[in-house]
Amino acid sequence: MEDYQIRKFTIGKPLNTGAVVMEGLVSEDFKADEKGCFSINTAFGESLCIDLTSKEISFNMPEDLYVYGLGETIRGINKRGWQYFSNNSDEPHHEEAKRSLYAAHNFLILDDGKKCFGLFIDHPGKVDFDIGYTDPDLLTIRFEDMDFDLYIFDGKEPAELVKGLRGLTGRSYIPPKWAFGYGQSRWGYKTADELRAVAKGYKELGIPIDMIYMDIDYMQDFKDFTVNPERFPDFPAFVQEMKDQGIHLVPIIDAGVKMEEGYDVYEEGVKNDFFCKKEDGTNLVAAVWPGKVHFPDFLNSKAREWFGDKYKVLTDAGIEGFWNDMNEPAIFYTEDHLKEVFAEIKNLENKELDIWGFFQFRGLIETIANNPEDYKRFYHDFDGVKVRHDKVHNLYGFYMTRAAGEAFERNNKDKRILMFSRASYIGMHRYGGVWTGDNMSWWSHILLNIWQMPSLNMTGFLYSGADTGGFGCDTTEDLLMRWIQVSMFTPLFRNHSALGTREQELYRFKDMNSFKNMIELRYALIPYIYSEFMKAALNDGMYIKPLSFEYRTDKRARETEDQILVGDSIMIAPVYQQNKTGRYVYLPEDMKLLRFRSYNDFDEEELPAGDHYINANLNEVLVFLRPGHILPLTTPAQNVAALNFRDLSYIGYKAAPGSFTLYTDEG
Ligand code: GLC
Repeated sequence: MEDYQIRKFTIGKPLNTGAVVMEGLVSEDFKADEKGCFSINTAFGESLCIDLTSKEISFNMPEDLYVYGLGETIRGINKRGWQYFSNNSDEPHHEEAKRSLYAAHNFLILDDGKKCFGLFIDHPGKVDFDIGYTDPDLLTIRFEDMDFDLYIFDGKEPAELVKGLRGLTGRSYIPPKWAFGYGQSRWGYKTADELRAVAKGYKELGIPIDMIYMDIDYMQDFKDFTVNPERFPDFPAFVQEMKDQGIHLVPIIDAGVKMEEGYDVYEEGVKNDFFCKKEDGTNLVAAVWPGKVHFPDFLNSKAREWFGDKYKVLTDAGIEGFWNDMNEPAIFYTEDHLKEVFAEIKNLENKELDIWGFFQFRGLIETIANNPEDYKRFYHDFDGVKVRHDKVHNLYGFYMTRAAGEAFERNNKDKRILMFSRASYIGMHRYGGVWTGDNMSWWSHILLNIWQMPSLNMTGFLYSGADTGGFGCDTTEDLLMRWIQVSMFTPLFRNHSALGTREQELYRFKDMNSFKNMIELRYALIPYIYSEFMKAALNDGMYIKPLSFEYRTDKRARETEDQILVGDSIMIAPVYQQNKTGRYVYLPEDMKLLRFRSYNDFDEEELPAGDHYINANLNEVLVFLRPGHILPLTTPAQNVAALNFRDLSYIGYKAAPGSFTLYTDEG
């Protein structure tokens, strides 16, 4: 008997998105009242109203109601007070003013500390979550089409609702064990020699590392599943050479396939009708990194199988992990819209431009990339059903990753393959993890990272993390150090930066020793991190939780969003402000502070529940151990494979022996 119940309500004629795997759930009968409102009762006595005429769901939010969920979005953990659009977007400006990032995670938990319920809206098009934005006391969820399945989760506490979502949509993806190591990435590494130099930079200092990522420049002219033969003369041998050093190379795969005669992926796709088509039956032409591309129709199972099998080109060369990118899909421009823009510019050219005319002119250029109208110009063959892209937009990244995941199950049965994606939808969490896209080297984005992690965990994306140090703009040594103090606890731990920004490999900075100590501490913690991750994955739980899920009736804990729980034993309270050497920390219960300068140099201090100002020098990592709990540590090694998972030391706080269950396996 589960701790949750699920009710299903089918509105209109929804498409099967593939998010739900639970079988046998039947939609409940329900009737509209005289005003056209279907009402669904909730734990709050207050009903949800589904209004078919105004195309919205509404709910009166009690004053002390917290709203959690939505996975990867902007703003804090309690989503109340803003409007969010589920509309997967190639959005490099993760600012408060924005409404969408790369993902559509349509799961909410409504909780007043005593009662709660959850809802999942299985709808592949745009959804507008107005969570007290228009009216502070009203939740309104708006749709363009009233075709969706609504699932209501009932349970006693938020964790049960999270479990319910996973029961409905399946178990979270589990990566190989080495994917819990540290990874170095940068857009701009071009040759085998440059990658060798990165490995050398780490090896010379003895900083552990498990992954080096390969961004688009490893390809021949940005063509998926090709490797530039001049830059990588003997690729399989190079992959092996890196593996001999304990390093996995992880290449990127982009959604768009370059249009080029003689390129097999392009030619096969054209021949077999595997690309997305326009109304007139021709393949859509868009431009992304490779120049002009076609988009594979991942929603078509035959195309999916074909594209998925292409990963074999690289797995046959020894590759064991990938990141899927540009799969919202990002569109720099379409040929059709570009023609329209040029026509309008010509039109304006000979006119006297007043200031509004100037803004109109300038605005034209801004409409070129990721234009909503472009997403209405092409269609999918969704296994026999022709659907316009914008109606299923949020599935594209999910289905690209599904293509890979299904292929790995077919072709690499005996292995776990690392896979994470930029765009996602609930359901994709069965096939891969996510990284949170193109953040900036901003202090505020460390905090955003802290907020996003528990929300991602709620929606099933356990294997996740941010570009550590920041992707866009120039990083600084102190910012990178503080960021590492967060990322060293996230399952995906990758330092990544954009072309043209300051280089941010750890060996480029002054206090390399502190960086080394921190990466070693991460490795010392991997038995704990892996164990807690696996328990969360196998029990449909969360690896990173907000304080409020554990200390539900503690108002202060509920309001504390810059501290998070990592696994069952510890809480972290990172410093995320420039030039700060400490911060206020709220302890919901007595805890033991572990102040790490390195894995084997740390102080322990017992602190009573309440507020504390805690000093934290730049090189110190603060870990708060909960009473009744234990933190295991191992001796760091140069990579995960060399770690000892058996010979551990333990730090406990008011804990009986045996109060920690270690999970380990061959990975
Ligand atoms: C996108 C990705 C980024 C990558 C870049 C070049 O912006 O989000 O991670 O480095 O493309 O491939």
